Amino acid sequence: MIVTIDGPAGAGKSSVAKRLSQELGYCFLDTGAMYRCVTLACLRRKIPLDDTHAIAALAMELQIELRNDSVWLDGEDVSVAIRTPEVTRSIKSIADNLQVRAAMVQAQRRWVQGKDVVTEGRDQGTVAFPDAPCKIFLTASAEERARRRLQQLLDAGIDADYDEILRLQQERDENDMKRPTGGLRPASNAITVNTDGMQENEVLDKLLHIVRDRTPR
Ligand code: DC
Repeated sequence: MIVTIDGPAGAGKSSVAKRLSQELGYCFLDTGAMYRCVTLACLRRKIPLDDTHAIAALAMELQIELRNDSVWLDGEDVSVAIRTPEVTRSIKSIADNLQVRAAMVQAQRRWVQGKDVVTEGRDQGTVAFPDAPCKIFLTASAEERARRRLQQLLDAGIDADYDEILRLQQERDENDMKRPTGGLRPASNAITVNTDGMQENEVLDKLLHIVRDRTPR
C-alpha cells in the first residue's frame, strides 16, 4: 500500500505524515530530505549551483539512507545539517535539475519495494507513484502556514519576523509550483485537505479516515 502526501512547505506534512505512518504501522519516506542531502553535499563540495552537470553527477554517486528517525549521507548522520536556512535557500537549483529528479524518483521507487509506505513530498502522487491507491494533497493558506512557522521558531527561542517568513514562503511556493517536472500540484485523483484552523490531531484523524476508506480490502 502506498499513501502519497504532497503539498506546499509549511502545511504540516512531515509531522502528520510521520504520525500517520506510525498509526498505520507503515514506513515513512521523507522525499524532501533526499533533495536536502544533495543540496548539502553541493554546498560542502562548493559545486556552483548553476553547474547542472556536476550536480547531476554528484547526485548519482551519493549514498543517501533514510532511516525511521534519521537521515544519513555517505555514512554521516545529517538529520540536523540538512535543515539549515542555507540548505533551504539553495535547494531550488537541485530540485529543478531534471537528472537529479529522475535519480531521486528512481531511488524512491526502489525504497518502497515490498513495503507499506506513507511518502511525503511535492510530486509523489503525480510523478513518483501515479498508481498509488491513496493520494492526499495537504495544504493551508499562506498566512496560516507562516503563522505556524513563526510560532515554531518562537517556541524554539528563535527570534523571527512574520512578514519575512511569509515573503520567503511565497518565494518557495512559487519555485515549487513553477517547476515544469515534478512541480507542486495535486494529482487529479488526490483528495485535498485544507488544514486551516485544524489541530494536528484533527488532521491525523481525517487522514486516517481517508486512508482506511481507500485501502483495498
Ligand atoms: O519538504 P521539504 O521542505 O523538506 O522540501 C525541500 C525542497 O525539496 C522543496 O522546496 C522542493 C524539493 N522537493 C521536491 O522538489 N520534490 C519532492 N518530492 C520533495 C521536495
